[in-house]
Amino acid sequence: MTYRPDPGRYEGMIYHRTGRSGLMLPAISLGLWHNFGGVDVFENGRKIIHRAFDAGITHFDLANNYGPPPGSAEENFGRVLATDLKPYRDELIISTKAGYAMWPGPYGDNGSRKYLLASLDQSLQRMGLDYVDIFYSHRPDPDTPMEETMMALDQAVRQGKALYAGISSYSPGQSRQAAEILRHLGTPCLIHQPRYSILDRWVEDGLLDTLEELGMGCIAFSPLKQGLLTNRYLDGIPADSRAAKPTGFLSKDQVNPETIDKIKRLHELALNRGQSLAQMAIAWLLKDKRVTSVIIGASSTQQLEDNLKALNNLAFNEEELRQIDAIAGHD
Ligand SMILES: NC(=O)c1ccc[n+]([C@@H]2O[C@H](COP(=O)([O-])OP(=O)(O)OC[C@H]3O[C@@H](n4cnc5c(N)ncnc54)[C@H](OP(=O)(O)O)[C@@H]3O)[C@@H](O)[C@H]2O)c1
Repeated sequence: MTYRPDPGRYEGMIYHRTGRSGLMLPAISLGLWHNFGGVDVFENGRKIIHRAFDAGITHFDLANNYGPPPGSAEENFGRVLATDLKPYRDELIISTKAGYAMWPGPYGDNGSRKYLLASLDQSLQRMGLDYVDIFYSHRPDPDTPMEETMMALDQAVRQGKALYAGISSYSPGQSRQAAEILRHLGTPCLIHQPRYSILDRWVEDGLLDTLEELGMGCIAFSPLKQGLLTNRYLDGIPADSRAAKPTGFLSKDQVNPETIDKIKRLHELALNRGQSLAQMAIAWLLKDKRVTSVIIGASSTQQLEDNLKALNNLAFNEEELRQIDAIAGHD
């Protein structure tokens, strides 16, 4: 059946400027790390992508290694593009990354120019694209000179294979260095992609301030702590959840009594605000103007619908913020 996007797709979404760039990103973006690989049900992933675009989610985040098997999320996204989304390419922001192990031998991992540029070519081929919108260095590589990794990002942009350059999980000092090198090369660093949630605060220790100063956007990954900051684990570990799946990155021991106690208290607080815990967790990140977007994951369209409603209440009073910090152990 031919996919026809909702003509009202831009009415409900909020768009934020990415740092001091010209690029606007949706407050909520969709990530394809889990649930879109070769081990997953293709039609389910396809439905989630449709629903996302129908709701004004213009940004889809991928990486070379998403699957499993690695590469299969890009292949599946390429299939959806080819059949459904190709006519809307200019309405989409598609990102990919290289930095983690992808193919055997010394050239399929880390931060060398050799790896990054070869990997981007492979990603473009898997997705059937001429270019991606954002190409990221997926993680800092202490053994490769920062200049080399940044020159690879700059070259990707100059070749027209990426429109913007980004970095992920770089420390404040590394981000500053990367931004400086890229500025010198003439390709500004658009965005940083760090892990950030109510229960994961490392970015508050200097990174957010650094990004604001550098004029770089910030897009938070795992905003729901891989599903912990939802109602998913309130009564144990469901069989179809990420923690139960052998291919999931959330381990069962992360669903421990201490964390569940925090989650139950956060859940109560969310209910008092008239929100689900997932909605509160997303809204809590978006209250900070330095956060351009949050990249959620979803295994069903229902989860996506739930998460989109976060946009209905983004305001927090002082007492709510104090309680969230106290429960999270950040008071
Ligand atoms: N740069 C990096 O190094 C890096 C690393 C990790 C992720 N990322 C990016 O960030 C994206 C998001 O990461 P993530 O998947 O960990 O994000 P997340 O939003 O923290 O977790 C998503 C998971 O939470 C559960 N969930 C989502 N909404 C729910 C709801 N309303 N109610 C109940 N459960 C809900 C689902 O788990 P179930 O599957 O159990 O249903 C879903 O798969 C990735 O896809 C990727 O694009 C980047």
